[in-house]
Parts: sequence; structure tokens; C-alpha cells
Amino acid sequence: MKSISLIQFLIEERRDGHVNAELSLLIEVVARACKRIAVATNKGALGGVLGMAGSADALSMNIQGEAQKKLDVISNEILLEANAWGGHLAACASEEMEDPQPIPDMYPKGNHLLLFDPLDGSSNIDVNISVGTIFSVLRCPDGVVEPKAADFLQPGTTQLAAGYVVYGPATVLVLTFGHGTHEFTLDREVGSFILSRRGIKIPEEATEFAINMSNQRHWEAPMQRYIGELLAGKEGPRGKDFNMRWVASMVADVHRIVTRGGVFYYPLDAKIKAQGGKLRIMYEANPMAFIIEQAGGAATTGRQRIMDLQPTALHQRVPVFLGSKKEVEVATHYHVEAD
Ligand code: AHG
Repeated sequence: MKSISLIQFLIEERRDGHVNAELSLLIEVVARACKRIAVATNKGALGGVLGMAGSADALSMNIQGEAQKKLDVISNEILLEANAWGGHLAACASEEMEDPQPIPDMYPKGNHLLLFDPLDGSSNIDVNISVGTIFSVLRCPDGVVEPKAADFLQPGTTQLAAGYVVYGPATVLVLTFGHGTHEFTLDREVGSFILSRRGIKIPEEATEFAINMSNQRHWEAPMQRYIGELLAGKEGPRGKDFNMRWVASMVADVHRIVTRGGVFYYPLDAKIKAQGGKLRIMYEANPMAFIIEQAGGAATTGRQRIMDLQPTALHQRVPVFLGSKKEVEVATHYHVEAD
């Protein structure tokens, strides 16, 4: 079978009118930056990239108040640097930075906005478990020359593209422009992403769920009821057994769902209620929701479709329910019914 590289795929998408030249070049730049992150990640201890950023006395913290790993900082810099000169962007926003990063005056500007979580699941780096990059592309509002945070606050339905790269046993890119979800695997010898699955379809029914069970006692009643029913298995009201997996890298957990179905939940709980959830709408929830919906799955907050939400802050957090459609619908129904 003839292999199709990411670049060939992007040219085809342009011919089909799914993407314009500027957006396809932007995606190429992001993919190239992710190859560099894959190289840094793969070096592990030998690259001096493990551990925390900053000194023992003064750890480097991100906007979320979380201590940054060296690879968080390196990945953020790789993505910023690669995209600054690309000429396709009006600005970038990163989970690791408080404010959007303008494009330096020395480079040409484009009319897209790029958002990214440079290294999702970074608590897993030091133990050699899969981590990833998540990204999303929006159009810069007309007439805006220097985009501010407010210009990024667009609902997920306006995303032009979204993707993630999982740095696992293989480096895999999953991408959507709103015409299906497609997977590319990095051929390390050649240095190219090669199309490995076109038009991914997530099964509607699930038999596997992903959730951090240690939070169970803090969940709301409908979540307690729902997970209780899954745990009851064949003998319970759902009449079948469910398996459980939790990698604690959203990219890896979502990639399992994109590969063999299942559901992922990070619900609201009493500990995180004040902050609205654990995962960030702009950097995690919206891009993943777009990818999952384009593969035939569903993505809600437990109460409403994620992509319909009007974001109110760049680093806003939301509950996330996503994956196999019928299963997400059951969990969402329990919450809506209880309100
Ligand atoms: P981050 O890497 O940004 O710190 O967060 C990881 C996220 C997500 O990738 C994962 O699903 C979740 O947080 C893990 O949460 P727990 O710590 O509750 O397992």
C-alpha cells in the first residue's frame, strides 16, 4: 500500500477545500515542532530533561500554580519558537503562560490563533509513561492586529483545526479540520508523519471507562450513581461488565478511546468545585471534544455539549465527559435529570 505523508494529506485537504494554504502550513509547523518535542522526550534522563524546572529553592510555577517540569518549559519554547517565524499566526496562547504571546515584530503575521498545552500529563514524564501535546486553531477576529485574551474566547464550534500528539511507544498525531478525524504515525527513520488511519470511527457503545477513582467520595450524586452502575457489572442495571483504565495523561487516555472506544471522565467534585473542574476548556476540553465528535463520539460537561460553551477566561476549567456516544449520553442524562 502506498504511504501518504502528512504533507501529501494536507495538499489533498487543500484540493478538497477543507483547509486553506495558510492553515495547512501552520499545521506543518506545529507537526515539525512536535517532532522536536518527541526527540527531547525520547532522550529521557540522557538528555537532562527530566525533573523540575527552576532551582530546588525556587521551583518554576505556571499560571495554574503548578510546578513546571523541565520538559514543560522546553516543549513550550519549541512550540513558541517554531510558530513565531511561521508567518501564519496573529498570536499563540499556552497553558503554561498567563497571557497570549504576540508574534514578534520581526516576523510576518497571519490571521490564525494557536492554542496549546505543550506537554499534557507531565507528571508522567519522570516515570516514562506517555505524555502529549494538544493544540487548537482559531481564526483571529477581523480587524484585530494585536490579539488579547478576549479574542481567544471563542466557543469550540469555531475551531478550524485541532489535534494532539502522543509521545508513547510510537509518536502519533491525531488531527481534524472538521472533516473527520485522522491518525498519522511518525516514521522515525524518515522523519515524516505517515497516515495510519483515515476517518476514525469510535464505537457508539463502550465497555471501558477512564476516571480517577480516588476522587469518588468527592463526586456529585449523579456521578456516584453512574459509576456505581458500571462497577456493578453484569449483575447491575447496565447488564454488562466494564473494564477500567487511567493513565493520567489525557492524551493517552483519549488515544485509547480513539483506538478502541470507551469513555473518559473528569467530573466536577467537591475539591475542585470552586475552580469549575480540572481540565482547561481552551487547551484540553475543546480540542479533544472536536477530535472526538469528528470521530462519531460525544463530549459534554455532564450537562451540556462542551463545544457550545462560551468561554469566559483563557485558563477556565470545565468538567469533561467524552468518548463513545451512547455511554456519554447516559452519564450526561443522569446529571441533567438530577438538576
Ligand atoms: P497536567 O499534565 O497539565 O498537570 O495535567 C494532567 C491532566 C490530564 O492529562 C489528566 O487526565 C489529568 O490531569 C490527571 O489528573 P489526576 O492527577 O487527577 O490523575
